[in-house]
Amino acid sequence: MTTSTQKTALKPVTRSTQAEFDLSTDAVAQITDALRPLLADVFSLYLKTKNFHWHMTGRHFRDYHLLLDEHADQLFAMTDDIAERARKIGGFTLRSISDISQHQRLRDNNAVEVTPGQMMQELLDDNLQLTRFLRAAHGICDRHGDVATASLIENWIDQTERRAWFLSEIVGDIQ
Ligand SMILES: [Fe+2]
Repeated sequence: MTTSTQKTALKPVTRSTQAEFDLSTDAVAQITDALRPLLADVFSLYLKTKNFHWHMTGRHFRDYHLLLDEHADQLFAMTDDIAERARKIGGFTLRSISDISQHQRLRDNNAVEVTPGQMMQELLDDNLQLTRFLRAAHGICDRHGDVATASLIENWIDQTERRAWFLSEIVGDIQ
């Protein structure tokens, strides 16, 4: 039983009376249920990428520090589009940091000491996992004919694969 009014409020139980929506209520529920954890994952990966950008050490500091800033910028740019897709189709999205932590699937890393190699490996793993989540969300959009969200997701998969490519080249060089 749901005791939290906050949790209840996250469900797309009502739709705006201010606009017309083409997708069915069921489609909106399924797509927003896919977008919500996706947004939480992207926010968490954004912050982890910034964490490693800030705490990078070693002889490749400048290269890795700058690369991770580029990656963080890409991830942050995704967040507004993910949230607004949910709203555009009549659903709801995240409202707070606690909401992110409730829905994220990628794990945080609060360790004090992480080597550059560990950082790159973990970001590689997370980006590969994010690609899988994106593909799954794409499949749900496809099933409901939400081509606009699917189209955005295709670009995000390409960006995520690019990040994974760069990270994998670095990981291969370090180990
Ligand atoms: Fe910075």
